[in-house]
Amino acid sequence: MLKLESVDLDVINGNEDVSILKDINLELDTGKFYAITGPNGGGKTSLAKVIMGIYKNTAGKVYLDDLDLTDMSITERANAGISYAFQNPPRFKGLKVKDILKISARNGDNTDFSRLRSVGLCPQDYLHRDCDSSLSGGEMKRVELATVLSRPSKVIIYDEPEAGVDLWSFENLLELIREYHSRGGVTSIVITHHERVLSLADEIILIADGEIQAKGPKEKIWPILQGDLKCQWKDNCGGNANELKCY
Ligand SMILES: Nc1ncnc2c1ncn2[C@@H]1O[C@H](COP(=O)(O)OP(=O)(O)O)[C@@H](O)[C@H]1O
Ligand SMILES: [Mg+2]
Repeated sequence: MLKLESVDLDVINGNEDVSILKDINLELDTGKFYAITGPNGGGKTSLAKVIMGIYKNTAGKVYLDDLDLTDMSITERANAGISYAFQNPPRFKGLKVKDILKISARNGDNTDFSRLRSVGLCPQDYLHRDCDSSLSGGEMKRVELATVLSRPSKVIIYDEPEAGVDLWSFENLLELIREYHSRGGVTSIVITHHERVLSLADEIILIADGEIQAKGPKEKIWPILQGDLKCQWKDNCGGNANELKCY
């Protein structure tokens, strides 16, 4: 089980102390498929980065089963079985696609490069491509998915896997995510705005304003998504389209 206990994340922005995540309490069961959703800027990516150790929470604890991850580095968490596929995967100047696959699979010359084919990239065309800005956002997302799916994980967080990927291809990528999940023993967490993913999840977690607004089986959360959060903006400007402030 992945457990977050009273987690806060504050950052300093200029002279201001900004609260990004507020008192997050979560228990995510091993073997379940979770979808995290909510408006832009709500804190979804920040939560993922806190779990991966990219952001250090300012208060609270993070556990994987009995292991206290709170003070562990990104590498230690990766070794403990946490994986994160970025919303915007970082580029690696000087590294080729084959290097990235080798590093993530951690088995050097025995790396199975054919895995690239499963994410829709022909190994012959892509293995020697540089992992820099010459790859499109969608191509980089696929390379990253191939790396994440090539190693054993206990928890995988996929941050908006649909971003930059066409709908048809996304169905195939989603199938890979489900296939990995169905092997068992893994907690899959997909941050998404995609209805199809939400419909597949065991549970949906709704995050807005840095707080968990709702969590539960999709049958319970779906009506909330359809109602309350439908429009946060339209009625909040006093009817004056030139008004920059929201009320
Ligand atoms: N390193 C940072 N410094 C300052 N503000 C940040 C930082 N990371 C995220 N934020 C802010 O935190 C809020 C939540 O961002 P994020 O977690 O990316 O939201 P989401 O993924 O739900 O769109 C946003 O207002 C964002 O601007
Ligand atoms: Mg995000």
